[in-house]
Amino acid sequence: MREQLEEIRRRAMAELADDAGEAQIDAVRVRVLGRSGELTEIMRGMREVPGAERPAIGQLINQIKREVEARIETLSEKLKAAALTKSLNEKRLDVTLPGMRIARGHIHPITDILEKMLQIFESMGFEVAMTQDIEDDFHNFAALNFPPHHPARDMQDTFYLEGGMLLRTHTSNGQIRVMEKRRPPLAVVCPGRCYRRDDLTVRSSPMFTQIEGFMVDKRGRITMAHLKGVLTEFARAFFGTTAVRFRASYFPFTEPSAELDMHCLLCDGAGCPVCKHSGWTEVLGCGMIHPNVMRAVEYDPGEYQGFAFGMGVERTGLLKLGVDDMRLFFENDLRFLSQFPALSAGVR
Ligand code: PHE
Repeated sequence: MREQLEEIRRRAMAELADDAGEAQIDAVRVRVLGRSGELTEIMRGMREVPGAERPAIGQLINQIKREVEARIETLSEKLKAAALTKSLNEKRLDVTLPGMRIARGHIHPITDILEKMLQIFESMGFEVAMTQDIEDDFHNFAALNFPPHHPARDMQDTFYLEGGMLLRTHTSNGQIRVMEKRRPPLAVVCPGRCYRRDDLTVRSSPMFTQIEGFMVDKRGRITMAHLKGVLTEFARAFFGTTAVRFRASYFPFTEPSAELDMHCLLCDGAGCPVCKHSGWTEVLGCGMIHPNVMRAVEYDPGEYQGFAFGMGVERTGLLKLGVDDMRLFFENDLRFLSQFPALSAGVR
């Protein structure tokens, strides 16, 4: 029995040589230490061993078992370490390689210009109020003193929706919406999208953005001088010029009415093809709020007075950014959009 054990040990140790692979190690484990392995078999045959010899044989079995286990353990550790080194070498990671560049977006130039404009008006004490794109005739026209058959109401000019509603043709509905809900003093700007049945061309678009602004207080507190002051400061802050003029004009909802012109930014007033050789470009419409508008929102025109103005954001954007085609703002070609560094402090 002793010789048999020595033979098991000799064979196992020979097979568990330094270069033994995983399969070989496993085979030895199963054959020698397994549940029906060689050592287990011998343990079972212990009954036949004379009593005096049993302890020594038992010890020898345990000793061989420990030896084989230890050897397997050593070899397995060695194999594991070798596998780790191999994978580290093969899947080497070069941490000095430059990373993948993730393109960073930025806000659309029109949104950016709008933000910048609002920031300028906010710095002068105006608050920002959003009003609705889908309007009724009263808030878009009637309350703004448009007579019943004014051509602006024409189907040719205005998008009508089922049920008599329409898409607002200007942000002047904001004046009505805010004033009918609140009482002066008010200094408010209403940005938003407007819609007209125009073709998309170099200078026009069926959808565009406007900012409406108005200031109302007790009669005598807000005059045309305040209107001129606010808009001249706007031109200075936004365009960097105070070369502006107020030219008499007409809107149903203001009296007197004016348009603000600014020295053409391209020729600085000298005259060029863009300003049709006049030296001036039209920037916005404005005026003192018409008494009929006051009445429409149930303000007593004898008690309250104020001014209003409205400007197109895309049109102003063309001037500010030196872009010569409005369509570029709507096509959203990234090669175009990415040319404009941010003007505003970002999205509110
Ligand atoms: N609503 C006018 C437009 O769309 C602009 C404007 C607003 C003019 C307020 C005067 C006062 O052209």
